[in-house]
Amino acid sequence: MPAEFDLLVLGDANPDLVLRGDVDPAFGQAEKLVDEASLVVGGSGAIAACGAARLGLRVAFAAVVGDDGFGRFMLDELAARGVDTCGCVVDRHRPTGVSVILSRGDDRAILTAPGTIGDLRGELVDRDLLRSSRHVHVSSYFLQRSLRPDLPELFREAHAAGASTSVDPNWDPAGRWDGGLLELLGQTDCFFPNSVEAREIAGIDDVDVAAGVLAERGAIVAVKFGQGGGLVMAGQEVARSESIATDVVDTTGAGDSFDAGFLAGRLNGWPLARCLRLAVACGSLSTRAVGGTAGQPTMEEALAALEGAP
Ligand SMILES: Nc1ncnc2c1ncn2[C@@H]1O[C@H](COP(=O)(O)OP(=O)(O)OP(=O)(O)O)[C@@H](O)[C@H]1O
Ligand SMILES: [Mg+2]
Repeated sequence: MPAEFDLLVLGDANPDLVLRGDVDPAFGQAEKLVDEASLVVGGSGAIAACGAARLGLRVAFAAVVGDDGFGRFMLDELAARGVDTCGCVVDRHRPTGVSVILSRGDDRAILTAPGTIGDLRGELVDRDLLRSSRHVHVSSYFLQRSLRPDLPELFREAHAAGASTSVDPNWDPAGRWDGGLLELLGQTDCFFPNSVEAREIAGIDDVDVAAGVLAERGAIVAVKFGQGGGLVMAGQEVARSESIATDVVDTTGAGDSFDAGFLAGRLNGWPLARCLRLAVACGSLSTRAVGGTAGQPTMEEALAALEGAP
């Protein structure tokens, strides 16, 4: 049976309320005015799913949201961006998570109420959906507390059905940086840490050495360096790519757009260096607009940016 979806994202879904301007809060019940507020699609998984759909992949998304305004906002926005939300579960007893992002251009602070962000678990993942997808991507490994213990079995099932797998760890708010992740790398085809995360997870200061040690566990390791672009390692193969010059408005979710680009390249059967170049282009272009999804490129736009790049 041909796969129905190119990509299934097992993820986190929450709106981001991005406030821009002079956003340092003043306590003592003072009211301050800021320049701008935008309610946008947030959650690493949701942003990656939107990025992949924008690149033309057939994408399904599985997450838990609450039966509330934030949850409906997320389901509507994902569907509007061409992401199939049939794998999402609405939990009437839990609130959807939300992040408030205080963004002042060069830096940002994030306040998150987790709500349903970590509520997805193995038994809620539709096995028909899992088996009918060419690739399964898991975002925010450390936030997905309930899903984590079920991932070895889910990845086994995905591989048995012929699918490949990937993980973006994102930050570990607990600062422990493990929780079974190193073992899971043996069942992970692509791993997408940023440079700090790669060093923390490997417990090694030198990022190239850290990436090499992680790659020894079997995964293709693509490391993100923000403005510095990215690096991919697989066995003895190494490739690097500079970021693409853009007028940066907001870097929120750039890493998730990078993941989407890399996976689109892999699913097209491209060599690793070209997958990395597409990933970096998608990450860089996503910084053009506020929030994670508004600046995400189509495949045509990303390829055009690559041609113009040095
Ligand atoms: N300031 C920037 N200028 C140009 N490109 C950027 C910039 N920041 C990020 N990018 C692009 O986005 C990619 C991923 O960004 P980054 O390293 O910030 O990932 P991340 O830390 O995982 O992000 P996230 O906050 O989404 O988790 C980079 O490899 C680069 O291509
Ligand atoms: Mg990241």
